[in-house]
Amino acid sequence: MIELYLDTADAVAVKRFNQCLPLTGVTTNPSILAKSKQGLNETLKNMQDALGETPRFHAQVVSTTVEGMVAEARQINELPYDMVVKVPATEIGLAAIKLMKKEGITVLATAIYTVQQGFLAALCGADYLAPYVNRIDAMNGNGVEVVADIQLLLDQNQLPAKILAASFKNIQQAIEVMKLGIGAITLPVDVAAQMFAHPAVQPAVDQFSQDWEEAFADKLSFES
Ligand code: G3P
Repeated sequence: MIELYLDTADAVAVKRFNQCLPLTGVTTNPSILAKSKQGLNETLKNMQDALGETPRFHAQVVSTTVEGMVAEARQINELPYDMVVKVPATEIGLAAIKLMKKEGITVLATAIYTVQQGFLAALCGADYLAPYVNRIDAMNGNGVEVVADIQLLLDQNQLPAKILAASFKNIQQAIEVMKLGIGAITLPVDVAAQMFAHPAVQPAVDQFSQDWEEAFADKLSFES
């Protein structure tokens, strides 16, 4: 089954959506944490409280050298949660991923804008690949096509990496990539909220209530 994440540092939103969605956990990135003004440790604690049980968290290294990324990944990996270390799929990042995998660290290759980045990261052993669907679309690319091509290469090469698609502006983009059979997706909170926002739904529910009340007043179904 697909793993569903929220891409946020907002624990209140995570608590809300955890009640109605089967969340695997939460993804963050340095920009999300910087905007929230909360560090990683505080965010993880709040998310753990919001989710309960054993959620999976994806947190990104901010080091910029191979040695620095690997050392930082070890520290992230030792946090008392189920951690996945996010590493940008750059030349330096891929070198770091190869070393991290030798140490058994679970890794997500992030900032993927091209098919080749995703494929090479998978060959280097990344467990997850995060193509940025909306950011690709916003550059006149085709985010869904990039995801489809990466998934094709994973299948053809029997690579175990899961695509964790990221960067969405609307539900259409999310549904299109989910239809490709990807392993995971992370949604920003506003896009998750759009999941329930079809304008015809609430009027339909209201009509049921009105019809029922006219016929049976305040009786419940099993009392009628
Ligand atoms: O973590 C990467 C992803 O969150 C990027 O999303 O909305 O900033 O394009 P966005």
